[in-house]
Amino acid sequence: MKYIVVFLMIIISSCGDSSSDGKPFTKHPGYEYMPNMYRSPSYETYSENSLFSNNSTAREPVVGTVARGTFPFQYENTLEDYLRAGNELMNPLSSNEKNIEEGEALYGMFCAHCHGKNGNGKGSITHPVYGAIPAYNDRVQIRRTGTTMSELKDGNLYHAITYGLNAMGPHASQVTPEERWKIICYINELQTIED
Ligand code: HEC
Repeated sequence: MKYIVVFLMIIISSCGDSSSDGKPFTKHPGYEYMPNMYRSPSYETYSENSLFSNNSTAREPVVGTVARGTFPFQYENTLEDYLRAGNELMNPLSSNEKNIEEGEALYGMFCAHCHGKNGNGKGSITHPVYGAIPAYNDRVQIRRTGTTMSELKDGNLYHAITYGLNAMGPHASQVTPEERWKIICYINELQTIED
């Protein structure tokens, strides 16, 4: 009981109209408990500070940072980079049954209507603009690599899917990098079909 009375007195006296020094309550805003909770010692985002010249407390990622789940692709849409991609890029996926099957399904959705179901270049689209679609297993016609379609390397295929070529539009917005590599697993099969 005694404690309750003391407690009530504290509560009631803390609501008085004068501050703790006895003077009428004019400017004293009361006490702050744990002021670090109100005034954080860390910098607020973009707040003025003496550490960074542009005040940017939200720092940029380090140069060369690769976001999780993304494949960096540092090749331009030029012949030079197309050839470089062919020499440097390797399919990160293994050509197992699952990847080939998934590649086949994706190929059916995104490529077969022009390139034909079995990759012979005779899809259901017969518009003259798409008249000269090469077969993947072609071993005669020389392409921009200086080799034939059947000899195109995975990096060449990846570059072609990403940027397209002439009448074939770029497919970067339709198929993710991982899906592109799966499609390539399947195209590798089509490249080896014997006539
Ligand atoms: C709208 C029709 C169309 C679609 C859809 C299409 N292509 Fe093509 N593709 C073409 C044409 C046309 C060419 C020949 C371009 C040329 O030689 O001028 C070609 C060429 C290519 C080449 C050869 C590129 C080179 O470097 O010589 C590859 C590889 C290829 N396509 C893969 C694909 C894949 C994989 C897909 C599906 C993701 C696809 N294409 C979807 C029309 C299409």
